[in-house]
Amino acid sequence: MSRLAIYPGTFDPITNGHLDIVRRASHIFDEIVICIAENTEKTPLFTIEERLELAITSIAGSDHITVETFGGLLAEYARMRKAAAIIRGLRAVKDFEYEFQMALMNKSLYPEVETIFLMPSERFTYVNSSIVREVARLGGDVTAHVPSAVAEALRKKFL
Ligand code: PNS
Repeated sequence: MSRLAIYPGTFDPITNGHLDIVRRASHIFDEIVICIAENTEKTPLFTIEERLELAITSIAGSDHITVETFGGLLAEYARMRKAAAIIRGLRAVKDFEYEFQMALMNKSLYPEVETIFLMPSERFTYVNSSIVREVARLGGDVTAHVPSAVAEALRKKFL
């Protein structure tokens, strides 16, 4: 039986750090679905359609990796997709508290799913979407931290 893992997030926008986690997860699971949250407490810079398109472009050519959007509860989405695991990246200790809380809540809502934390390569430990957005907004070069389509989309947003 094929083992599917979902990798949820806001992906506003997808970064090279996210792609590093996807690559690691793809060595463990048969199929990875990047799940972009439609409804989030955050107010995203990119629309759900833009985030979807940027993620699809960024994983182009990768076998067994797909991108979807989801609304509502992640645990319900995981149940509907029959996911064996939820993948989350852990960069530093400060990520832990929120991640621990989410993992336990998701487990209580859908006990069959495990949350698996993966560490990115050291060079991505300081990269996240919000710092990338801020640097891009202030005219900094983010090309080392995001796929080229994302760098271009950020450039256009902040013209
Ligand atoms: O990339 P992010 O913003 O850290 O991802 C957070 C995300 C989207 C995974 C989380 O907010 C989420 O799961 N949202 C869906 C709604 C939900 O299930 N909330 C309860 C989480 S325990």
